Amino acid sequence: MSALLTIALSKGRIFKETLPLLAAAGITPLDDPDTSRKLILDTNQADVKLVIIRATDVPTYVQYGAADLGVAGKDVLLEHGGEGLYEPLDLKIARCRLMVAGDPHHCPRLNRPRIATKYANTTRRWFADRGRQVEVIKLYGSMELAPLVGLADYIVDVVDTGNTLKANGLAPLEHIADISSRLIINKAAMKMKHARIKAVMAKMAAAVGG
Ligand code: ATP
Ligand code: PRP
Repeated sequence: MSALLTIALSKGRIFKETLPLLAAAGITPLDDPDTSRKLILDTNQADVKLVIIRATDVPTYVQYGAADLGVAGKDVLLEHGGEGLYEPLDLKIARCRLMVAGDPHHCPRLNRPRIATKYANTTRRWFADRGRQVEVIKLYGSMELAPLVGLADYIVDVVDTGNTLKANGLAPLEHIADISSRLIINKAAMKMKHARIKAVMAKMAAAVGG
């Protein structure tokens, strides 16, 4: 029997949108993470397991080799830095844009506008690259609330339809990056389990839509 292959995925959007790509590689989970409390899911292949973790933790599990492969949003990868990982395949799922957003009529603090975001590293880097001084406030969710209650002048968050911003009287202002989810691979696993990983990768690549 071949060595175990462990794939890290987050629940929800990424799990759902990755399922057809895994199916194309002949991998079908035996449990649904939305109904099961299990964190390690068996698949139809005895030597392939899925680990179900928070979206932001996926690069960490793959970096340290606790998972061989994973699927992570480019937003999460930009923030993580990508150390110890290969990022060979754009899966073209969970597409959105990383944006600066806010109330277009708001007058920001003149000195250093405050930006609330869960993408603190990416935000610092993006403003610094443009020579713009900002104060970054790290949040873990519901960024849209921050400008409404005076915590921040702007936010940096992912935007798809723009409905969440609109519902809170905010608008997208500046584009930082186009986002989609990527297949990521642990560097050591890529060497040790090369044939196996290459085969899964090739089948997933063939199934990725234009
Ligand atoms: P957690 O729930 O653990 O805080 P999360 O909310 O970022 O994480 P998801 O909402 O499942 O987890 O998002 C996973 C990825 O999907 C994000 O990293 C991003 O790349 C992408 N994404 C997030 N929101 C949208 C959206 N509205 N439309 C399309 N893609 C999105
Ligand atoms: C994400 C993100 C935004 C929203 C943007 O939230 O955090 O709030 O989508 O999408 P929109 O432009 O189409 O409104 P999600 O729906 O994943 O909920 P979450 O905050 O629980 O992650």
